[in-house]
Amino acid sequence: MTDRAHQQCINPACAATYAIQDVLVACPKCGSLLDIKYDWDRLPLPKSLGFFEHRWSTKGSGVQGMLDFSGVWRFRELMPFFRTEADIVTIGEGRTNLQRADLLATQMGMKPGRLMLQYEGLNPSGSFKDNGMTAAFTHAKMVGAKKVACASTGNTSASLAMFASLAEMDGVVFIGTGKISFGKLSQALDYGALTLQIEGDFDACLRRVRQIAVDVPQLGIYLMNSVNPFRLEGQKSIMYRVLEAMDWQPPDWVIVPGGNLGNCSAFGKAYAELRELGLVKKTPRLAVINASGANTLNELYSRRNLRWNDGKYDKTVPQKLFAAMDEANYYPHTIASAIEISRPVNLPKALRALSTMNGVVREVSDDEIQEHRAMVARWGFGCEPASAAGVAGLRKLLDEKVISPDESVVCILTGHELKDPNATVQYHTGIDMKAVQDVAPRTEPRGKYVNRPVQVEDSLDAIVRAMGGDPAVLTELKHGTRSGIPVREF
Ligand code: F0G
Repeated sequence: MTDRAHQQCINPACAATYAIQDVLVACPKCGSLLDIKYDWDRLPLPKSLGFFEHRWSTKGSGVQGMLDFSGVWRFRELMPFFRTEADIVTIGEGRTNLQRADLLATQMGMKPGRLMLQYEGLNPSGSFKDNGMTAAFTHAKMVGAKKVACASTGNTSASLAMFASLAEMDGVVFIGTGKISFGKLSQALDYGALTLQIEGDFDACLRRVRQIAVDVPQLGIYLMNSVNPFRLEGQKSIMYRVLEAMDWQPPDWVIVPGGNLGNCSAFGKAYAELRELGLVKKTPRLAVINASGANTLNELYSRRNLRWNDGKYDKTVPQKLFAAMDEANYYPHTIASAIEISRPVNLPKALRALSTMNGVVREVSDDEIQEHRAMVARWGFGCEPASAAGVAGLRKLLDEKVISPDESVVCILTGHELKDPNATVQYHTGIDMKAVQDVAPRTEPRGKYVNRPVQVEDSLDAIVRAMGGDPAVLTELKHGTRSGIPVREF
């Protein structure tokens, strides 16, 4: 089917197209993000969304059974970038739950039946990231990638590590030192990924891993962050499953926490396509919720009025904000470590999604996040702090009367409660278990499968060395980089 799909620059003034087989994380002509586009007229399409229901009962170990079992690939006609079904890498992701949360609705002052919680923490690695990884690993397999890498606040690394191990590829994850919760760190180590703890935060890690993927081709890295447009194709399925659980009737609102802004971007693309295909009549409104300690999108969208403007958004607005952050030596900080990101790479796509879905953006404090996390646990199945930012955002939007108590609302709970038990224990006891564990006595690990994290300073030279490469390959970079990221220190 690859001749019926291509990659395309999202900047309408450029709109350059590339083949599906190209491995790209930005448009080589203008540097903008890329989309996957389909030639829908030449593809087999269902007449209505109800078509997908016939797959609910299929099971089995054959390709068809595994694809129908997946909550992502049972919608494969809506993401047909693969060559054949045999290309698809699936581990049974996306079998998640939309819970009618009447008890929580009552607590929030909403009518019964109006609040639904979409539990993406029920994915195999415990977060929504598996929806995107299955798609990106499918592309990685199609192009023969052997080594995959990402920067992460924890969940992407856990998901990448799990898929890499099962797809028999080498996984490398870049995480900020002390920045990710133990639940997520333990997953990356356990699944066997090379875990590089870079001195710095997520933004520094992402910058480095992009630089490595683009400028140091000798290392053969395939980049798995959400700048990879295939990731977002898989994440569209979260919206399909919400629709499916609501008998194909869109809710009034979808609320999602915003970090690197891949998820909300995928939701916007899902609805733009469903509309184009005539498969939905109504589009829900979108609310993206930042943590106050990492509020770039809210600052740009709500305070500085930055809008997609048909792709002609004013780039100087984010540039000024980022320059001011640099000047003030600002680093984001929030208990919702998953969304502790100040330079979201999917910003343009998020602006587009907000335009497609008539969206709003808000920010919530750490106290509000913790309070609503505890409420989801008390009256639901629990979630990690970042996920609760969405529910705290709902409270704010109800208070502001932007959302009325009888509108139907779906909050996307992005990660499992057990991803970050420290946050929970701290909330209930006041004890910061992470700090306690830092001074606890250590024993030498002796197990057969021990996979220690590697501490690395934030320099290209040290990172290449830690990945088993030869830093000599960096000398040619002094003449300029393809990534456009200036090489600062070596
Ligand atoms: N919620 C959770 C639990 C997350 O892990 C993330 C992102 C988000 C929300 C925000 O989603 O980036 O698409 O806006 N986690 C990434 C990671 C950054 O590395 O695991 P987004």
